[in-house]
Amino acid sequence: MLLAVGCSSQKLPPNFKFGAATAAYQIEGGWKADGKGKSIWDEFAHTHKDAIVDGTNGDVAADSYHLWREDVRIASELGLNQYRFSISWSRILPSGLPNNMSKAGVKYYSDLIDELLKQNIEPVVTMYHYDMPLKIQDLGGWTNPLIADWFADYARVLYSLFADRVKTWITINEAVVICDMIYNTGILAPGIKNEELGPFLCNKHLLLAHAKAYRVYEREFKDKYNGRLSLSHNILWIEPYQYPRDKELAKLGLEYMIGRYSHPIFSKEGGWPPSVEKKLLEYSLKQGFNYSRLPSFTEEEKQLLKGSADFYALNYYTTHMIRPAKEGEKGTWFLNGSPELGAMLEIPADAELSASVIMPVYPKGLRKTLSYLKNSYGDIDILITENGYPGKHQMYDHVRLKYIKDHLTQVYLAIKEDKVHVIGYTYWALMDNFEWNSGYSVTFGLYAMDHKDPKKIRSPRLSSQYYACVIKTHEINVSDECVNENIEKLHLQEYHSFGNSVCASKALIVLLILFYFS
Ligand code: BGC
Repeated sequence: MLLAVGCSSQKLPPNFKFGAATAAYQIEGGWKADGKGKSIWDEFAHTHKDAIVDGTNGDVAADSYHLWREDVRIASELGLNQYRFSISWSRILPSGLPNNMSKAGVKYYSDLIDELLKQNIEPVVTMYHYDMPLKIQDLGGWTNPLIADWFADYARVLYSLFADRVKTWITINEAVVICDMIYNTGILAPGIKNEELGPFLCNKHLLLAHAKAYRVYEREFKDKYNGRLSLSHNILWIEPYQYPRDKELAKLGLEYMIGRYSHPIFSKEGGWPPSVEKKLLEYSLKQGFNYSRLPSFTEEEKQLLKGSADFYALNYYTTHMIRPAKEGEKGTWFLNGSPELGAMLEIPADAELSASVIMPVYPKGLRKTLSYLKNSYGDIDILITENGYPGKHQMYDHVRLKYIKDHLTQVYLAIKEDKVHVIGYTYWALMDNFEWNSGYSVTFGLYAMDHKDPKKIRSPRLSSQYYACVIKTHEINVSDECVNENIEKLHLQEYHSFGNSVCASKALIVLLILFYFS
């Protein structure tokens, strides 16, 4: 009877992979341990304390440089199939260049990978998660065209060291944040605000860096190790604020935010999305430039980029509505510096708010994003490499539990109804960590970690119990009993899911109706 009233089982496919993620600067600490070189975040967090709400930094963070066995232990306690972590470029290559490799840095990641494999957890390795070696930044970072070769050299070092054990690689995490958000606002490391050329030079060089790293693997390692590579995109799903008025603007917004970073790699024709190329040329000419601020690709570069990914790696957090900017209105952070679109973003009226103002909760946007990717780039494998809830410090985090459940439901629908090939889901984050500008004031962790605790104990939240049940069964609508199994041991109050009580009351109504007519 329960199944008949819409509380049916929602099972993700048997080969679907569940993971959790972290990133080097956000968890490792050991910022100058064993000869590690400085990264832009080591520098920025010390010199721009006022940019971080609680004035903290990642000097120690979750101390994973020393406590990595704990990370593997909790990953294994959850039953994760995959653990996504990032390598700090300047821990392996202190100056950023391959002529000087740190033995201690290599050992750290090698031990971590071995331990994960021992626990049957597949490492998913990100090569770059915002932490540029300072020495490379001093030479212009992503705005210097030579970065593409330096990054490819770094990638080759990583493949030589770890490709025998790592089969899934993410070259770069969230180009749109690295290029658009950072150069438009200057509020994240390296703290450089340069709206006119910064985002677009970065956009081009970063994509080329990715492609060169991909081609190194393809040429020198693929035959032997047969791994898969991609780059993670942070997709802000965009809806028209007023329909049909803003329909075309929303389409352009998506091409601007998603297409500018995906079209060169995933589309059949390659290169920039034509609509964006046209818009940026028009706007640049209007501004008095005699060329487009978006640098063009040579034919050779286009070919290098086209097809340089084996799957689509998607980070999804939120959705915004787009509308035309009013006279004199200044853009929001995501589309800021793109007055060329003449657009403003608004929070959807039906979104739930979270502890982060820029991340209202909107699960439906995930399914729409997945369909959009399929419609735009074909039937490719999509790995969700991040999705997570920004909360405060509660251990009984039923809101996070609901967040995961609601997003997994959208994934389920995308697979079942829209036939999108989603191959896995990675929750951000395995444990609380240094959340960039928010310091430690906002939490994402399945496990709580109090950065003031000298022992940095990782303590399971309620959501971790739910996620472990899903991983065990692949069922999204897990039973309350499963979630409550360890509740006493964890000193958490018992969990009664709203969803199940809705199911129960629906079932009761059906029973009453049957009783009435019998
Ligand atoms: C980033 C993470 C960050 C998370 C939550 C993602 O876009 O990759 O580093 O912690 O968002 O803000």
